[in-house]
Amino acid sequence: MQKTLIILKPDCVQRRLAGEIIARFEAKGLRIAALKLIQVDRALGEKHYAEHAGKPFFEGLIDFITGGPVVVGVLEGNEAISVVRSMLGATNGVAAAPGTIRGDFSISKQNNLVHGSDSPESATREIALWFKPGEVVDYTVAG
Ligand code: CMP
Repeated sequence: MQKTLIILKPDCVQRRLAGEIIARFEAKGLRIAALKLIQVDRALGEKHYAEHAGKPFFEGLIDFITGGPVVVGVLEGNEAISVVRSMLGATNGVAAAPGTIRGDFSISKQNNLVHGSDSPESATREIALWFKPGEVVDYTVAG
């Protein structure tokens, strides 16, 4: 089983879409291994998005991710990383296919509702950045 990090970004929380989007992941068969609502500070936002430092949209991205609370979680399941990424759709909501989360709910490059880890290496790094080891819970579910 594979774990991946999701962040329901400030636009998602402010638009009251968090429950609906978590429900999609659960309906797909992914298990919630960790979940919390937090206010992100700039240091954490900059660490999470370190690979984008220096890009023209970086400062705006940090303003955005620190602009209101986020719901951050760990989802677990078979091929969870690629399953979540395909459910999210293209980064730019304008280009994201209908039926994907961004395709159904976003029309923005930045305010694209949800982050999902893009590789096993990113998932390992991001889960360790956002959660203490004891906050990620292993348990067995039927099915
Ligand atoms: P995410 O999947 O969290 O990874 C990086 C984030 O940067 C991305 O989603 C968007 O929120 C944001 N982003 C990527 N490209 C752009 C862009 N061209 N302009 C503004 N924001 C962007």
